[in-house]
Amino acid sequence: MNAAVSPSTQDANAPTWVRHARLKAWVAEIAALTQPDRIEWCDGSQEEYDRLCDMMVKAGTLRRLNPEKRPNSFLAWSDPSDVARVEDRTYICSENKDDAGPTNNWIEPAEMRGTLNGLFEGCMRGRTLYVIPFSMGPLGSPIAHIGVELSDSPYVVVNMRLMTRMGRKVYDVLGEDGEFVPCVHTVGKPLAAGEADVPWPCNDTKYIVHFPETREIWSYGSGYGGNALLGKKCFALRIASNMGRDEGWLAEHMLILGVTSPEGRKMHVAAAFPSACGKTNFAMLIPPASLPGWKISTIGDDIAWIKPGQDGRLYAINPEAGYFGVAPGTNEKTNFNCMASLRENVLFTNVALTDDGDVWWEGMGPAPAHLVDWQGKDWTPDSGRKAAHPNARFTVSAEQNPAIDEAWNDPEGVAIDAFIFGGRRSSTVPLVTEARDWVEGVYMAATMGSETTAAAAGAQGVVRRDPFAMLPFCGYNMSDYFSHWLKLGERVEAAGGKLPSIFCVNWFQTDENGKFVWPGFGENMRVLKWMLERLQGQAQGEENAFGVTPRYDDLTWDGLDFDRARFERITHVDASAWRSELQLHDALFEQLSNRLPAQLRDVKQRLAQRLEN
Ligand code: GTP
Ligand code: SPV
Ligand code: MN
Repeated sequence: MNAAVSPSTQDANAPTWVRHARLKAWVAEIAALTQPDRIEWCDGSQEEYDRLCDMMVKAGTLRRLNPEKRPNSFLAWSDPSDVARVEDRTYICSENKDDAGPTNNWIEPAEMRGTLNGLFEGCMRGRTLYVIPFSMGPLGSPIAHIGVELSDSPYVVVNMRLMTRMGRKVYDVLGEDGEFVPCVHTVGKPLAAGEADVPWPCNDTKYIVHFPETREIWSYGSGYGGNALLGKKCFALRIASNMGRDEGWLAEHMLILGVTSPEGRKMHVAAAFPSACGKTNFAMLIPPASLPGWKISTIGDDIAWIKPGQDGRLYAINPEAGYFGVAPGTNEKTNFNCMASLRENVLFTNVALTDDGDVWWEGMGPAPAHLVDWQGKDWTPDSGRKAAHPNARFTVSAEQNPAIDEAWNDPEGVAIDAFIFGGRRSSTVPLVTEARDWVEGVYMAATMGSETTAAAAGAQGVVRRDPFAMLPFCGYNMSDYFSHWLKLGERVEAAGGKLPSIFCVNWFQTDENGKFVWPGFGENMRVLKWMLERLQGQAQGEENAFGVTPRYDDLTWDGLDFDRARFERITHVDASAWRSELQLHDALFEQLSNRLPAQLRDVKQRLAQRLEN
């Protein structure tokens, strides 16, 4: 049904299937502020998706790929100034500055509302306001939460259809007065009468704003990824982390996978790695042939909502329904399942176009002799530039993943046996360390460092503390977030429940030539296997200052030529490097000192002492 109407009326001319008076009044209010030419109530149908894609092809926003090579798939090239999340333009506008904490940008809510009102006034002129209803988590499930995004970007509509459960069915769940998180998004480029549009409208001024107390999201000026697909980082992490703190659960930047042993025993692992540090790869891992019988299945690749269950275990669901994954570096060897997911029905953004109408990116395979790069320019292998932007991405429905877990849609979630935390560190941090207990695990996660990547605008390759891989995504005070993790652990233990083990990994140590020492990707199964055997009390390791690390002979090496010397290199704890590292932990704790839980300082003391012994 095409419900496009003029936006003048009180209920924004909502179709009859929308029965929620407060929602209709809110849409009318935002339309009065933003002044779009028309309102379109999205129903999430295939017809709507196809129509919007066709429209964007005509407008030059999308290019249809060769249907023989990549059926029903499209390529978008963004404005070169709008290619990643903008962390320095992201705000947590809590009433009290300390509730946002020292790691978040904060502006007084009243002042921010004034700024936003000015920016949003008339910002959709000449455009259509799309009403996008979506559910994070299976529709109607008790753990799911609903959002409604109002956006003037049809690119956002089609991406949201792949990334979330989007469409008319959401209104059945909402009924007449259900709760929803209001999300307002504009590219910030109104059109004057008769003014021609550009392929990727956006604005140099950008604001990604969260009001945690009223659970609202306002996003201005960007059409890209997490800046614009508001169900993802803005809702499922920044707002949901607030919900989780209030209600006793966790919203985390974690993949979730199922791993089945050759004996048929199944376990579940949730792993937090910072942006562009390997979550999608790990979630779809194919074990090497030399480890027969092991199997990995994907529940999620980016976000986990985790709740304590009646039985004292932690249950995780993936609130998303699709993958918005990094394209560069993905190939049949590094991630076969991912490549298989991308055969059709894909939206690509900022990858290169081949002469036969398909896509290419760095690390996909041999470079073709000629391409059109992500900026629309001719490209040859000797042109000295990247053909795809390093943060080029694909959007695809999770249903297309051949390794999807049978429980990925289960509203109950899966019981987590282990948490893994891992940063991108060229030195210092060993391949894998098991924390001795929950508090030490929380310490490891809290003090994790990682080199920055192209997933966020700004300097790249700089080591920064990225606690729990949540630095850009925690919607409240980071110290309170640490306390929340500690309290959750105490509560589960007090109730006689079983907490997951916690491990810390680093796939990214490099040698003197800058090459990765550890082969990574499928070979990470060897490390995962050791962890699972530890959980069952079957594998050995050696205790060091920080926890337990495997010795060379504790891992299975069948089929992999990786010698003792190299293993030593990436597992040994260098005391002088760690003394410097602990100073960085101190600096983090100094920054967070206001509300930092004392337990973490105690752990720090103990570790420092162990290191000296
Ligand atoms: P977001 O979607 O940004 O949250 O990130 P993600 O963690 O899902 O990132 P993704 O899995 O797409 O990571 C992509 C980058 O990590 C690529 O550059 C990969 O080549 C690299 N990568 C993934 N796994 C490994 C590994 O085991 N070893 C090495 N060296 N690189 C890896
Ligand atoms: C990340 O940056 O962690 C992502 C991509 O998963 S985005 O959705 O743009 O945040
Ligand atoms: Mn992410």
